[in-house]
Amino acid sequence: MSTNKIIVANWKMKLPYKKAAPLLKKFSSIKFSPTVQVILCPDFITLPLASNILKKSKIKLGAQDAALADRGAYTGEVSPVDLKDLGVAYIILGHSERREYLAESDALINQKLKAVLAVKGLIPILCVGDKVRGKNPKTILFKQLAGALKDIKLAPSQSIIVAYEPVWAIGTGRVVTNSEVTLAHLLIKGFLTKRFKPSQSRVIYGGSVDAKNSANFRDILVVNGLLVGGSSLNSKDFLTICRNVLK
Ligand code: PGA
Repeated sequence: MSTNKIIVANWKMKLPYKKAAPLLKKFSSIKFSPTVQVILCPDFITLPLASNILKKSKIKLGAQDAALADRGAYTGEVSPVDLKDLGVAYIILGHSERREYLAESDALINQKLKAVLAVKGLIPILCVGDKVRGKNPKTILFKQLAGALKDIKLAPSQSIIVAYEPVWAIGTGRVVTNSEVTLAHLLIKGFLTKRFKPSQSRVIYGGSVDAKNSANFRDILVVNGLLVGGSSLNSKDFLTICRNVLK
């Protein structure tokens, strides 16, 4: 019997809005295994369309970011309250692309996490990852986790997903080894279980996951799922990935 896996499709800003409806329709027609929870994260402007097209499917909706407050003078930002009202259930926070291009700090990510957790029913997907392969991942991961999770307390009904995304593997085609994934996941799990109940956190992997390498992650028990970027824009490849992690 397979355990439940979370598979996040992060469409980033890769899909032209004009092409969103046909791809969303393809996704909504796929029969995913009931032991996989698919979370689709399109860009902000695609969310209302996605919410409408996916309303009868089992796919959950995620956003790629959220504001650091529920309401106020934050030009260009989107409130987590409104995302929830739109049908969003998960929020990616601290993606390395935002850390890199928008200078998001651990302190800012911490504020966003608090704003997201203040909205009942929203589950954050916190991204952490080391920049240079083999260069002290423990110190980097613990610094990011400590900063992002500062003063964060989870109510008994709340949970958090942490995505281990080594920056050197994102969008590069560089494939992580099983022992690299296992080590990072155990470190992250160890950090999280000191703060939260084991059932309140899950750790997933992201970075150049594709239809070919996805089966590698199937037997790594510490991996609770995958965060898929580029390959999630091809519905066939994405379905293969979802099947491969369960076989
Ligand atoms: P990728 O992106 O699968 O294209 O490497 C993963 C991610 O969203 O960071």
